[in-house]
Amino acid sequence: MRDTSTITAPSASRHQPRTIARVGFIRALIVLHRVYGRRPLRDRVHTLVRFLTCPMLRVLDAVPHSASLLDIGAGHGVFATLVRARDARRVVGVEPDVRKVRPIAGVESVIGFDDVVTGTFDAISIIDVLYKIPIADWDALLIRCRERLAVGGILIIKEQDPTARIKNAWNALQERIATALHLTLGESFTYEAPSAFLSRLTRLGFLEARSKRIDFGYPHPHVLYVAKRL
Ligand SMILES: C[S@@+](CC[C@H](N)C(=O)[O-])C[C@H]1O[C@@H](n2cnc3c(N)ncnc32)[C@H](O)[C@@H]1O
Repeated sequence: MRDTSTITAPSASRHQPRTIARVGFIRALIVLHRVYGRRPLRDRVHTLVRFLTCPMLRVLDAVPHSASLLDIGAGHGVFATLVRARDARRVVGVEPDVRKVRPIAGVESVIGFDDVVTGTFDAISIIDVLYKIPIADWDALLIRCRERLAVGGILIIKEQDPTARIKNAWNALQERIATALHLTLGESFTYEAPSAFLSRLTRLGFLEARSKRIDFGYPHPHVLYVAKRL
């Protein structure tokens, strides 16, 4: 049986990231420093590397303003922290790796898999998580996402584009090292070409599914998918 529990961070704290109208790069670093600055060195390095190697601010642009957001596979909560710091109404991060989950002011952190979360959200984000899950399980997860989205809600997925050969080779090497060092859960490395993934989203009933490469200036072939629930 899966080990699940909920840690709700205190609503008021001097570590509460300030609300920032527009999270620019430097401001985001300041917000992250406030949240992670007192964590163990390993966590500080991990969160900084995540932020520097993943175009999270480009993903953030896809999140509607003042939305409620569920972040699936939230890791240490870097993206949840940034969404919260911008203007979210509510942010829930769900993450199965108990080593990564610590209270973050303004973020409801849940230890477990996505199916432990109830209620509906304006947006759901899944950032660099799908590739850790066997492809045979993707439809079930995406259908659960559809059910957790409010009508008109937005599904936001960040993955790697396997059709970008050079950038993808670098990505595969880095993932093997991270898994060998036990820095992340999950063994599977499943990637799908953007055209096939967009067809999958459409087949599962999502509307206006579109993809966009957001990897300019990054060594990895980051691709963003956005789709809407009818
Ligand atoms: C590369 S990390 C990304 C973490 C976070 N989304 C970020 O962008 O920093 C992948 C995360 O997916 C989580 N994960 C692995 N399998 C999962 C599953 N079946 N459901 C939800 N999360 C999962 C891992 O524990 C890990 O924290």
